[in-house]
Amino acid sequence: MKYNFDTVIDRMKSSSVKWDGAEGLFGEKDLLPLWVADMDFKVPDEVSKAVADKAAHGIFGYTIREESYYQSIIDWMKTRHNWAVEKEWICHSPGVVTALSLAVQAFTEPGDKVIVQPPVYYPFMKVTETNNREVVYNPLVNNNGTYEMDFDDLVSKIDESVKVLMLCNPHNPGGFVWKKEELQRLGDICMKYGIIVISDEIHSDLVFRKGSHIPFASISEQFAQRSITCTAPSKTFNLAGLQTSNIIIPNEELREKFSAETDRNSIGMPNSFGPVATEAAYSHGVQWLDEVLEYVAGNLKYVTEYFAEHIPALKVLPLEATYLAWIDCRGLGMTPEELETFFLSKAHVALNQGKAFGPGGEGFVRMNLACSRSIIEKAAQQIKEAVDSLPS
Ligand SMILES: Cc1ncc(COP(=O)(O)O)c(C=O)c1O
Repeated sequence: MKYNFDTVIDRMKSSSVKWDGAEGLFGEKDLLPLWVADMDFKVPDEVSKAVADKAAHGIFGYTIREESYYQSIIDWMKTRHNWAVEKEWICHSPGVVTALSLAVQAFTEPGDKVIVQPPVYYPFMKVTETNNREVVYNPLVNNNGTYEMDFDDLVSKIDESVKVLMLCNPHNPGGFVWKKEELQRLGDICMKYGIIVISDEIHSDLVFRKGSHIPFASISEQFAQRSITCTAPSKTFNLAGLQTSNIIIPNEELREKFSAETDRNSIGMPNSFGPVATEAAYSHGVQWLDEVLEYVAGNLKYVTEYFAEHIPALKVLPLEATYLAWIDCRGLGMTPEELETFFLSKAHVALNQGKAFGPGGEGFVRMNLACSRSIIEKAAQQIKEAVDSLPS
């Protein structure tokens, strides 16, 4: 291993949402922050150097995206996901959540409906509602820890007001990759009813089995023409603070509509650091990413075994993608509110509460595993002590 992820890097007083923001948000002191999806790991050396070189130049005027930037994205998509992307297809947005909101504005009208498949990343609902569109739930079916789409329910929910479906691929918070047959069937239904698929693939590089992620748009030309794919180096390489994402839209008409929203909001131009960091990460970050995935897999193994041995009421679901463990806590027999208080006030661990992810999330928590093993060990022990202290 070239990188040492065991070293704990102090992130307090670094303006970190995860660390410095936890007390204000959760109202408790001394929480172990295992919530929002960023990593406690330093980025690959080449990325730090690219940013440092840019900083050393000392001039941070309006910035363009170089040819080599686009090429690094194209090469990454080809080698990592076997998806041939063309430069013209690549649109921009500071973040993926911004892109989801722009897409809602571009492809729907107020009052239109957007289908989401909960439990799912909560901004899917939020951007729909804050844009005055209606959320329609097509809940996933939890078959003993394996999630499946409910296609009959999906078809029954479609009417002429449904314009968009938001797909989380790979899935957050479930931590799984969709199989080709599932994506094919979903896409066929959306194509039949003229529904545009917004495929959020921000976690696509974080798969434990190489090549297991299938970009929705790569399945067929028809799917490519009726979808937009949200990608970013932010989850993959821990660059969320650099506000850089790439939205891949093969269809010219959809691309123009999306770009019109970017222009209207005047957010198309990058900051000075995002493009250089992205290019360095995609060009030189493979070994770092492979090592991160191995390390996270070790953290997952640790909590899975620890909970199975010491806290059987908590079940860690298997993880195929993301560094976010989805933990079934229903065995504790608590309401979602009690569960939240339990983890914050008794265990002193900040997790994402499942209920925030919509129907089907109640009774679950999401734990961020992208941190040093010693932090995971401490959190597991604090949770065990809290469970042991519960009245039997
Ligand atoms: C599925 C998904 N989409 C988008 C985001 C956030 O993207 P951004 O920070 O680029 O807005 C996250 C962050 O956790 C996520 O899990």
